[in-house]
Amino acid sequence: MVEKSAEFSRQIQTMFGLVAPRYDFLNRLLSLGLDRTWRKVSVDTIAPTPNERFLDLATGTADVALEIASRRAKGVRVFGLDFSLPMLERAQKKIRGAGRCDTIILQAGSGEVLPFPDDCFDGLTCAFGIRNFADVRRGLEEMRRVLKPGGRVVILEFSMPRRGPLGDLYRWYFDRVLPSVGRWVSGHPDAYKYLPRSVAAFPSRKEFMNAMREAGFCSIRPRTLTLGVVTIFWATPSSVESNS
Ligand SMILES: C[S@@+](CC[C@H](N)C(=O)[O-])C[C@H]1O[C@@H](n2cnc3c(N)ncnc32)[C@H](O)[C@@H]1O
Repeated sequence: MVEKSAEFSRQIQTMFGLVAPRYDFLNRLLSLGLDRTWRKVSVDTIAPTPNERFLDLATGTADVALEIASRRAKGVRVFGLDFSLPMLERAQKKIRGAGRCDTIILQAGSGEVLPFPDDCFDGLTCAFGIRNFADVRRGLEEMRRVLKPGGRVVILEFSMPRRGPLGDLYRWYFDRVLPSVGRWVSGHPDAYKYLPRSVAAFPSRKEFMNAMREAGFCSIRPRTLTLGVVTIFWATPSSVESNS
């Protein structure tokens, strides 16, 4: 898996800072509202239970953290980490608006060097985040490190539907239409060109599952949604099980 530079990370950080004001609007528009369903299914998959502690890595505007907090699991705490301050500012407004300040705590930081001790979270979510990490392996190792034995991780990422009439139509939309609409609405010339490029450059499902295994996860269960437009990976640290 290709390791990118610190300069790449800085560019990603700047890019998300610039698109932050229109990020939620563009998510809903460009996914036709499906992004909400994908996050809900991800939170169903991690299945919060009372008094658990979660980390929502690359939390952005905190949609996943808010979805976890909305579940009826008393005493749940969610830490939302991101390296983009403008994204975190929007997240904080949404958290305040939803009355969830007692449940969600935001923290600025890098996903590749998590500012948390070992074995401290019951669950970790990362939606559309890991693809942007300069060092995906390091990110996965950090996820593994901060999860308690028996904890679980849920990673939601874009994938590509199989070839065929629908798959080809989606590719045309994703490669051609989405970057133009994204540029027009966000005012950022490249951010939404970067999206299809980064999805194309992301490891295949098999390679990513291998990287998860090498980082110390097992029982890895991939699940595709919306004909393969996104994939959810569920896994647990391998010290508990090693049957994958
Ligand atoms: C596409 S957004 C996803 C946000 C949110 N999880 C969601 O579901 O909408 C990617 C987020 O990852 C953050 N990010 C990317 N690389 C990161 C890194 N190495 N460390 C921390 N945050 C990172 C960006 O700042 C951005 O907010």
